[in-house]
Amino acid sequence: MVGGRRRLGAALAEDLAQDHALVLTSSRSWEGDTWLEGLGKTTGVEALEWDARDPRMGSRMMADLEDLERRGMGLSGAILMAGDFPEMPLGTWSEGDLESVWRMHLTFPFLVAQALASHLAPGSCLQFILDAAIHKPLLKRLPYSAAKLGQTALVHGLARALAPDIRVVGHALGTLMPDEGSDPAVLASRSLLQRNGSAQDLARAVRYAADSPHLTGEILTLDGGWRLA
Ligand SMILES: NC(=O)c1ccc[n+]([C@@H]2O[C@H](COP(=O)([O-])OP(=O)(O)OC[C@H]3O[C@@H](n4cnc5c(N)ncnc54)[C@H](OP(=O)(O)O)[C@@H]3O)[C@@H](O)[C@H]2O)c1
Repeated sequence: MVGGRRRLGAALAEDLAQDHALVLTSSRSWEGDTWLEGLGKTTGVEALEWDARDPRMGSRMMADLEDLERRGMGLSGAILMAGDFPEMPLGTWSEGDLESVWRMHLTFPFLVAQALASHLAPGSCLQFILDAAIHKPLLKRLPYSAAKLGQTALVHGLARALAPDIRVVGHALGTLMPDEGSDPAVLASRSLLQRNGSAQDLARAVRYAADSPHLTGEILTLDGGWRLA
């Protein structure tokens, strides 16, 4: 799991750790992390430091994955969770801020996918965590919405490039874990189902995608009908 330390990523890691050995990445050092020690007690966990802002990330990822392989650890699937949710309304855009959005939500996922492609075992599913904003761009977050939409091309293109050995699936999420400062009740009222999703909703979808040998190149939308409301 790329970005499996905080919020949705941490919740999903706790779910998957019940029956999987995990490799988690974070942009910060894991030294002395007690949550990680507890998580890996039964099934085992490896922790890597991958920071989207690091200009040498491509070669670092390759080296880390080769090291895992040398130590006999194969990957049977991967989930790209890493992201942020920057508010950038029209009028505030600058070259630097836009480049940092493209780096986090395009350059980094492209490099991660390229590094993982040759290390995933046949039968694996590579899963991208997208946003329902791919269907209805968020006006205060157009650069973020556009970059997530760009990742759908990665899902469709990689599904073709990596078939038949590896399947590729995206998840377009509505509100699952609201940002601090937002009102969960207001967000829920904007969806057809009048609810926010949960980390369990995502865990179910991720397990479904991993266990569905006839599914590839598809974006599953989990938004309670937000895009249709
Ligand atoms: N929360 C929601 O309701 C929601 C809705 C729609 C879509 N999503 C998508 O779901 C994913 C996870 O959402 P979230 O709310 O849990 O997001 P989040 O709090 O923004 O964190 C996502 C992960 O990204 C990692 N990360 C942050 N900066 C990084 C960097 N520079 N390099 C590498 N990793 C970095 C974080 O780990 P470290 O800090 O340890 O590096 C964290 O585990 C995101 O892709 C988001 O776009 C979430």
